[in-house]
Amino acid sequence: MADEPMLAQQNGAIATEDVMRPYYQAVGDEEIVFKAAYRQGLSLVLKGPTGCGKTRFVEAMAHDLGRPLVTVACHDDLTTADLVGRYLLRGNETVWVDGPLTRAVREGAICYLDEVVEARQDTTVVLHPLADHRRQLPIERLGVTLDAAPGFGLVVSYNPGYQSVLKDLKDSTRQRMVAIEFGFPTAEIEEQIVINESGVDRATAAELVRLGHAIRRLETGGLREVASTRVLIAAARLVCEGLTMRTAARAAIAGPLTDDVAVGRSLNEMLDVYLPDAVHD
Ligand SMILES: Nc1ncnc2c1ncn2[C@@H]1O[C@H](COP(=O)(O)OP(=O)(O)OP(=O)(O)O)[C@@H](O)[C@H]1O
Ligand SMILES: [Mg+2]
Repeated sequence: MADEPMLAQQNGAIATEDVMRPYYQAVGDEEIVFKAAYRQGLSLVLKGPTGCGKTRFVEAMAHDLGRPLVTVACHDDLTTADLVGRYLLRGNETVWVDGPLTRAVREGAICYLDEVVEARQDTTVVLHPLADHRRQLPIERLGVTLDAAPGFGLVVSYNPGYQSVLKDLKDSTRQRMVAIEFGFPTAEIEEQIVINESGVDRATAAELVRLGHAIRRLETGGLREVASTRVLIAAARLVCEGLTMRTAARAAIAGPLTDDVAVGRSLNEMLDVYLPDAVHD
């Protein structure tokens, strides 16, 4: 919210009023499913590989629904107190300071727990009563249980390619979460995304997308992840800076995908085949 710049800076919270809609290009029926689930007070889990648009999607949905968005990037040191709140010393006084989850519950914001699998299991336990029909947040330290304000929504994301703690969430919670699976868009849609995000021309976007799709079809164990829309956009942005396609693709696509020398070499050979200017520089 506008009067909470600290939270906004610390946790990536964005006030959604009077802000342009974050650019999100629908790939399937994900927007319809999200909004229906939200209206029904159902929690959501977004599953998908890195760089496929999960975060951007939530930003756009929060905007459309007119709710503030509180984003928490989960990590393995994240404690329940980081989410819920803690007593802090202010001068001579001990004061309670809400964590981002508690703020979202009080304000009726959409709370997005990014990469929830990274959070320790004892941290995610606090989500159980929030994720189901109770929509309550127990705050042990305060001895209170908060009812979520109208408008509150819980959204978590995880990448199924990484080891998953989500399966250790109670089944009662899991089953109250509506799942949206994110894959990669069709070539046509991805081209449009690359153009919008980088400002590159259509022909360049088409070449990069064609290369991306070819890399996704590779069945090699040496790649850390598939080539995401994000890396294609990064390559396109380098092209906008005047780099050749080959240099841009090496730096932004091949480089991040592997540390393996042999795999790197075959990726670079692929670039030569797929990118028209590749053999000229
Ligand atoms: N459908 C889409 N519409 C608009 N932009 C998209 C879309 N998909 C991907 N992007 C672009 O790709 C970038 C990466 O997307 P985003 O950060 O949302 O991925 P993510 O799925 O949250 O990844 P991670 O799991 O690594 O957090 C965005 O900054 C945006 O530029
Ligand atoms: Mg993300």
